[in-house]
Amino acid sequence: MSKQQSTDNWPEVRQQAVEQLPGAIVEFIEQCQAEEHPESQLIAVLHQVQNHFGHLGEAQLDAVAQLMRIPHAKVAGVASFYHFFRLNPPGQTTIHICLGTACFVKGAERVAEKFREELGIDFGETTKDGKFSLEASRCLGTCGLAPVIMVDDQVQGPATPDQVPGIIEKLLAKDKRAKNSGS
Ligand code: FES
Repeated sequence: MSKQQSTDNWPEVRQQAVEQLPGAIVEFIEQCQAEEHPESQLIAVLHQVQNHFGHLGEAQLDAVAQLMRIPHAKVAGVASFYHFFRLNPPGQTTIHICLGTACFVKGAERVAEKFREELGIDFGETTKDGKFSLEASRCLGTCGLAPVIMVDDQVQGPATPDQVPGIIEKLLAKDKRAKNSGS
């Protein structure tokens, strides 16, 4: 007997889970369930959920767990293990730090450390005020500028730890101006 059949209230459980996810993702999960090792698609499913919502919320993780019949703790464990998954909504500004080989050898880790220190967050986290998120990236395709950072969609380099406080200040000032002009 499958786990699905053994759950008496499966129709309600399924319905609640389905309401948390877009139809295309539910369909993808159902296709995976028909395969021999559906759990091997968990990361692919989580990527789709994150692409749609921008992060992996508790309700979505639970829906994935229910529909894939994988324990919630395992789904949450996978989501928190990989740095490319984010469990909280992204901040207003996302700062990506390239940790690709060219950037790494030119000191990207020191730049990353300074951002972590100044913002008080680690990769994959968002500041309490919701203003900044920090992300580690693979090669951003501009190795000649190494070490490279990308602030929202703008690539900057070479970045140094000394520049970090100024970059943050500028972003805060820009945000303040935008708020003032909108009020
Ligand atoms: S390794 Fe950083 S841009 Fe290529």
